[in-house]
Amino acid sequence: MDVHSFSRPDLIRVRHLELDFDVRFDRKILAGSAALHFDSTDRPELVLDTRDLEIQAVENAAGFEVGPRDPVLGSPLKIRLNKGCSWVRVKYSTSPGASGLQWLDPAQTAGKLHPFLYTQSQAIHARSWIPLQDTPGVRVTFQGRVRAPTGLHAVMAAERAGQHFKMDRPVPSYLIALAAGNLEFRPLGERSGVFAEPALIDSAAREFADTEAMIHAVEEMYGPYRWGRYDLLVLPPSFPFGGMENPCLTFATPTILAGDKSLVNLVAHELAHSWSGNLVTNATWSDFWLNEGFTVYLERRILEKVYGREREEMEAVLGRRELDREMESLPESDRVLHIQLTGRDPDNGCTLVPYEKGALLLRSIEREVGRPRFDAFLRSYFNHFAFQSITTEDFLDYLRRELPTQMRLDEWIFDPGIPSGAAEPQSDVFRGVEVEAERWQLGHQIDTSKWNTQLWLHFLRTLKNPDLARLDREFHLTEAGNSEILHQWLLMAVRAQYEPAYSKMERFLVTVGRRKYLKPLYTELMKTPEGQQRARRIYRSARAGYHPIAQTTLDAIVNVQ
Ligand code: BES
Ligand code: ZN
Repeated sequence: MDVHSFSRPDLIRVRHLELDFDVRFDRKILAGSAALHFDSTDRPELVLDTRDLEIQAVENAAGFEVGPRDPVLGSPLKIRLNKGCSWVRVKYSTSPGASGLQWLDPAQTAGKLHPFLYTQSQAIHARSWIPLQDTPGVRVTFQGRVRAPTGLHAVMAAERAGQHFKMDRPVPSYLIALAAGNLEFRPLGERSGVFAEPALIDSAAREFADTEAMIHAVEEMYGPYRWGRYDLLVLPPSFPFGGMENPCLTFATPTILAGDKSLVNLVAHELAHSWSGNLVTNATWSDFWLNEGFTVYLERRILEKVYGREREEMEAVLGRRELDREMESLPESDRVLHIQLTGRDPDNGCTLVPYEKGALLLRSIEREVGRPRFDAFLRSYFNHFAFQSITTEDFLDYLRRELPTQMRLDEWIFDPGIPSGAAEPQSDVFRGVEVEAERWQLGHQIDTSKWNTQLWLHFLRTLKNPDLARLDREFHLTEAGNSEILHQWLLMAVRAQYEPAYSKMERFLVTVGRRKYLKPLYTELMKTPEGQQRARRIYRSARAGYHPIAQTTLDAIVNVQ
């Protein structure tokens, strides 16, 4: 049972969808229909999840009723079925405030001339644009037909042929995705490519040039890529996430276009989800660590294979440090891998714990049994559970059967914090940077000319109450073009009330909608009375440009009406 769905897949299980929409930029709605196919049944009722949909009719049914709206779950759509029924078609339109859609004005795009639409269905937002059984425990195949205004290009995360889309491998609802805008396509390899607005297509193709090598790297370790093509779509900067692993078509923030491939671990991450997450899927949002912990582990293995051990070690140490920092501010109940989400919005249960503690568990198992055995285990795990949705218990049963160890698995999964004896990552290069940081704090000049993004991040996070004016004078951090470095710098600037960085921060907050950047900056600002005033003023002008998901998170932090 999934506490985040009204549906009852134990009674009737939807297996296939036929989607047909018009993208109406003039009214900010999708208008059309969804046909749902299931095994012929004599059950009297089919319950679907919806949120803020306007239902016009349900064809091939005896009637329908929309239940009361729950603030987290939306409204159940109860459809009365005729005997022996095997399909219904819901005619409907979305609402302009749909939680899973962002409608962008031309001013919010790179080209400034055309509007843009994209969906974000994870975790429980598919129901705001399709009436369906919105639980990762149910998988469907689908066909889609999408009509966008002339001049705009619509894409779905599926096999594509013009306006027609087809997904013939069963996927959970949170992976159904659509985007429309002024998009150009550039091939990267035989089965990979990138979509972006024309102004960004060249830099995107350069940044993602190693995509094909990454696909090969995972295939060598964990078996064939099973989704046909792997393309990327670069979204406008208001996209609330770094990336989203929509099958065949990863959605990505433009903030990773650093010019030096330094942030393409995100591509490795979203690609890795093609195995961990999209092929073997968490059955409920409490099992989210099965998706993300495995994916961070795979991401780092890809980095190691494509860019070398040193790079992998740096990312692992950065992640480990950030996990500790975040855990300090989390209640004990959120420091466990299998988390309790009853009555909560799964969007708010999203911390680094499933990502980094999950990856650390797998790393620790790897160290215990040796890499060859662990890789063989993972390969068979992906095959054994391919195209299935599984719980933490399913994983534990399989692990205990196939790879018995001395590890205290229950402690890892159900207890807060990091068990002793974890396989702690180490980086020699970072130790060098720590020495440099100390020298710098003693007033020496240091040579940073060969530093990459990861070294800069570690350097900045290592400093203790540094002189920000000196940092800025020597390293021009307020002018940093790399979004991760800039974000780290702006956080330090807010903490130390370093005013010369404030106008840059304001511009960053107004243009970038990535929740991972916004949340810490606004939270930090809200800690002082002056900061609160500033945060409220910025948020009032920026809010309309943020995605509904980011708005919900920030409304609770900045609390302006
Ligand atoms: N699937 C997630 C994004 C997500 C999680 C969306 C939960 C909605 C609810 C995606 O794979 C992800 O983890 N993205 C990260 C990037 C990654 C490199 C850690 C992000 O967006 O920051
Ligand atoms: Zn992920």
